[in-house]
Amino acid sequence: MAPISRVVRIVIGRAGLQLYLAALLFTALTLGAVSPAIAQEVLDPNPVVGSPAQDPQRNSNGLAQTPPMGWNSWNKFACNVNEKVIRDTADAIASNGMKDAGYQYVVIDDCWHGQRDADGFITADKARFPNGIKALADYIHAKGLKFGIYSDAGAKTCGGRPGSQGHEYQDALQYARWGVDYLKYDWCSTGTRNAEEAYTLMSDALRASGRPILFSMCEWGNAKPWLWAAKVGNLWRTTGDITARWEGKHGYSLGITTIVDFNEPLWPYAGPGHWNDPDMLEVGNGDLTPAEYRSHFALWSLMAAPLIAGNDLATMSQQTRDILLNRDVIAVNQDAAGVQGHRVWKQGDLEVWSKPLADGGRAVILWNRGTQPASITADWGMLGYPRSLKLNARDLWAHKELGQKAGSYAATVGAHDVVMITLRS
Ligand code: GLA
Repeated sequence: MAPISRVVRIVIGRAGLQLYLAALLFTALTLGAVSPAIAQEVLDPNPVVGSPAQDPQRNSNGLAQTPPMGWNSWNKFACNVNEKVIRDTADAIASNGMKDAGYQYVVIDDCWHGQRDADGFITADKARFPNGIKALADYIHAKGLKFGIYSDAGAKTCGGRPGSQGHEYQDALQYARWGVDYLKYDWCSTGTRNAEEAYTLMSDALRASGRPILFSMCEWGNAKPWLWAAKVGNLWRTTGDITARWEGKHGYSLGITTIVDFNEPLWPYAGPGHWNDPDMLEVGNGDLTPAEYRSHFALWSLMAAPLIAGNDLATMSQQTRDILLNRDVIAVNQDAAGVQGHRVWKQGDLEVWSKPLADGGRAVILWNRGTQPASITADWGMLGYPRSLKLNARDLWAHKELGQKAGSYAATVGAHDVVMITLRS
């Protein structure tokens, strides 16, 4: 049999063959030069050119239009969680006024997990949760509350329980079957994993589960989630773990004022559906002074932070209750405009903070970080108001109208304490 080239030469002749080969070469070169991205643009009129988290087609899940409120087991109970602790907490929230004040989510943090079953589905620790997670969720829902759970983007949680890596869709499905309304998703044992990829994957898995599940990202701020996660999560931790101390670093944990200073400059990134999370409340934990707990709660409220209590609700003191249930302060946190308040003046230990409210008013904190009482003045200029404006002031801790003020408002503020007011026309 004649070789192919001779057959071709016979059919199309020498000149034709050369033309044919040249055409082949040209086609190969041209195809090789088309990058996959360009090829995709040809096929896809709306190509994703950034990361999935920043896809312009991406929608937020619509949850957490105001900062979420609730309770989480970690700050008080750490790994010592069980069915009774969670049920007692749900009973307390439903009956002590917290539910009426807006606290809604009851969240089990780390250490509820058992092993994965033969099909890879996560199970609860049977000794701690003998009736299973579904029964617990039903119990909480029957109280008119919502139920949250915890996992981790790595192979293991920070407490060494099974993490969700490689099981994201399966875990989201399991949570939806149990009736989970809130997932806190941690960042231990993640190795070289990319945070944007890992959180977007779980965000997508939660949406695919078919149940609205609020997504709380706990990545400690390492990958600057405020830059990319507005449509991925509903809140993201901005710092390492909180501890019930006034200031400073304590091992991996941070005191309250130290966290405030990390979280404050991030105010432009917060808004309805996506909040900076300076970690859960320590009100009623540890041995801070009443003034320090007041400062903590006032600043978290003004910073539009999630208000997730972290103390033992079944045994809390009247003093702790009065702080957590201060409806005037909670109303500032839950204001519909969803602006994160921030510092507008500072001189040494004395500061003025302001949060614009939906009705054009302001919530204002005079904060004394020092150890001696001091006078602090909020000037209307600091708040973006003309000095001639007359405004009605209300003291949010004394629950008292202070009458009309013009130009400024001054008060003496105790050591480590706040004065918190609203100003309205
Ligand atoms: C990390 C988180 C904490 C808590 C623990 C649980 O430290 O930042 O909030 O969830 O893990 O192990």
